[in-house]
Order: sequence, then structure tokens, then C-alpha cells
Amino acid sequence: MNMRIVTFNRKIIFAGLLACLVIAIIWTISRPTRSTTHDRFKNGKTNSIKRFPSVESTEEIVATVLVIACNRPEVERSLDSLLRFRTSERKFPVVVSQDCGHEETAQVIASYGDKIMYVRHPDVSDITVPRGSDNLKGYYKLSRHYRWALSRVFDVLHQDTVIIVEDDLEIAPDFFEYFEATKALLDKDPTLWCVSAWNDNGKTGRVKGNDLLYRTDFFPGLGWMLKKSLWEELAPKWPAAFWDDWMRHPEQRRDRACIRPEIPRVVTFGRIGVSRGQFFDEHLKYIKLNNEFYPFTERNLTYLMKDVYDPMFINTVYKSPLVSYEYFHSGHVMPAPSVRVQYESEETFRSLANQLGIMNDIKAGVPRMAYRGVVSFMYKNLRVYLAPPRNWNGYEYHE
Ligand SMILES: *[C@@H]1O[C@H](CO)[C@@H](O)[C@H](O)[C@H]1NC(C)=O
Repeated sequence: MNMRIVTFNRKIIFAGLLACLVIAIIWTISRPTRSTTHDRFKNGKTNSIKRFPSVESTEEIVATVLVIACNRPEVERSLDSLLRFRTSERKFPVVVSQDCGHEETAQVIASYGDKIMYVRHPDVSDITVPRGSDNLKGYYKLSRHYRWALSRVFDVLHQDTVIIVEDDLEIAPDFFEYFEATKALLDKDPTLWCVSAWNDNGKTGRVKGNDLLYRTDFFPGLGWMLKKSLWEELAPKWPAAFWDDWMRHPEQRRDRACIRPEIPRVVTFGRIGVSRGQFFDEHLKYIKLNNEFYPFTERNLTYLMKDVYDPMFINTVYKSPLVSYEYFHSGHVMPAPSVRVQYESEETFRSLANQLGIMNDIKAGVPRMAYRGVVSFMYKNLRVYLAPPRNWNGYEYHE
């Protein structure tokens, strides 16, 4: 081979390499600093927060996801699904708060490095509970951890909107899309106090349509979004235990509603938990997780604002023909898109709910997932509204 050509080739290769190097250096220098949304908790004693987005940059954040962890290394499954479906690191920073000091779980969380921010509840001490409530200690610790973790994200990290996810929840592909789209409703409508990804009746055969959203007077919990203003209201009186039922109490709820989907955007995979053993086997494991992305942010969700929603919802419910439970098994077909089944008391609600395969419990006067007393679900492929009489005038709350 001609020597000159070889030398020439070498020169070209060398020049090419040099150019690549220069381009790489320029790119590295000029590249906007990588989003500094996450800071890993490195040392159990200092809660370093310096790289977390501060007040100046919060406009870009839609909501901070707060994962409540304790002693389940399976939190990995939650974190994997969160990180897998997260649309933007910037819009949805993830903070994992761990109570309990469980080492194996700590290692799992730490292995996510700077993809998440890891904070540890500093107070893992034993907790004093009322006499005779030793078996309920878990609920007391959980409440203490929630208070600390919420204060951390709202008061220390100055976040404005937070989505709470427990360590046994897996999310749907459009979980973030759903919260991003509904956040504006939470900002605009003072009669809303949360958006939840959960439907207690979200079982196969009971739900249809992943575009469908509702208002509910029942606080669903389980993957839910709240604003700082609500935290500021609840923080001073945060309860020692059973925080979710406490929130359902009229004194806290104050007639406010949550948005919830027809088809859940979270499911729980854990049967081991403070409260979920038997409940898991009987109900939770049948809950369906939405698997097809729905573009909520491209839709007009104004219909969920109270002034638009209430007249429309009440009209839809009460113009649906009234049927009895027997109707569904009579072989007659009603030429209507929906039907209404009426209950007159808590007792008749419970027995109809059992017959129709939905949750039968009522908390602080509100049936699960009810809005203005009405629970919407599918039965025998028909939209059913289990509803009180038209002249209903509020939930009955008895201590
Ligand atoms: C969105 O929906 C509301 C009420 O349902 C309606 O009044 C409004 O005009 C709609 N906006 C757009 C841009 O279509």
C-alpha cells in the first residue's frame, strides 16, 4: 500500500478524533445543568436538601411524589413503576420517606441513587399508645410518619402540591397524566380537597371507560394529591392514629369532595400491611389497574367543577329509570343508557350493595365512592346509579 495514503488516512483519523473531542467538550460545558431535582439522603443524621428544587423553580413542578416506606423491600416494585411511567423528572420529583429503620429496605431505596430523594424519619422510637391499644401501634406509627413526611415536603422542601403513594402501590401508565390534568381543578375549585387514583369499586365487571372521572364525597386515599393549603389546615390537628378515617370525619372534610377515576390508576400488591390483610383477600386483589393510557391533559375537564358537575350529575342520575334489583335478572331490557336503584336507609344501601357487588360500607355517613349519596358502577353491562330518593338532603352522620 502506498505509504503516503496511509499517512494521509492517519491524519484524517486524527483530525476526526480531535474534532469529536472538541465537540464533546463544548457540549459538556454548554449543556444546561442536569435537572437537579433530586438529592439523595446520604447520611442518616443530616437531611441534606440543597439540590432539591426550591421555591424559585417550583413553577415547573406539577407535583412532588411522596412515597411512604417502612420495612418492605418490595417498595422496589412501587418505585420501578413510578420511574417507569414518570413523564418528566422535572415535573414529578420523587421523595421516598422511610420510617422503621429497616436496613434491607433502606438498601433498596438507596440503590435508586439520585433518581429519587431519600429521607429517613428521624424518630423511629417506640410510640406510646393508649392503654389496651398495643396491637394498634402500627397505626400510631404510620400517623406519626405521615405527619413528619408531609411536613418535610411542604414545610422544609416548600413544595406546593404532593401526591402520596404508599410502598405497596403500583401505578398505571397514565397515572402522571391524570394528576397533571386534574391539578388545575384542585387549584380552581375550593370544594375539592383531593384527587385520588383509586376507586373502591374498581373491579372487573363493575367499571367501564378509562376516560371517565367523578367527584366523590368519600375520601379514597391510596395514591392521592393534595395542596399545601390543605396540609396547613390539617397539620396543627393531625391525629395520633387512623388519619384516613379522621379525614373522613365531617369536621375535617367540611363537605369537600375528591376527584376519582372510574378505572383505578393504582393497585395495591401487598397483603402485608398495617391494615390490609383480610381486606386485601376480600377486595383489593380484585381491583383492576388501568392499562391503556388516556390523554387527560388533552381533554376539557371543566365538567368536574362543582357548578357544572352537580346539575349535570343529578340530572343524569334522576332521569335514569328506576328499577329494582330483580330487574337485572328478569330478562327485560330497558331502552336506557343507565338505570337507577334506590336505597332509603343505610340498611337498604348495604343489602343492595351486597347484591350488586360493590363495597357496602359507610364511613362518617358516606357510602364508599358516593357523590351526593349516589354510587355509580356497572352491573350486567349497564350503568347503575345506586341512589337515595331525589329529595335527599345530606349525609347522616352519627358518632
Ligand atoms: C370546557 O367545558 C366547559 C364546561 O363543560 C365549557 O363551558 C367550555 O366552553 C369548554 N371549553 C372549551 C375550550 O371547549
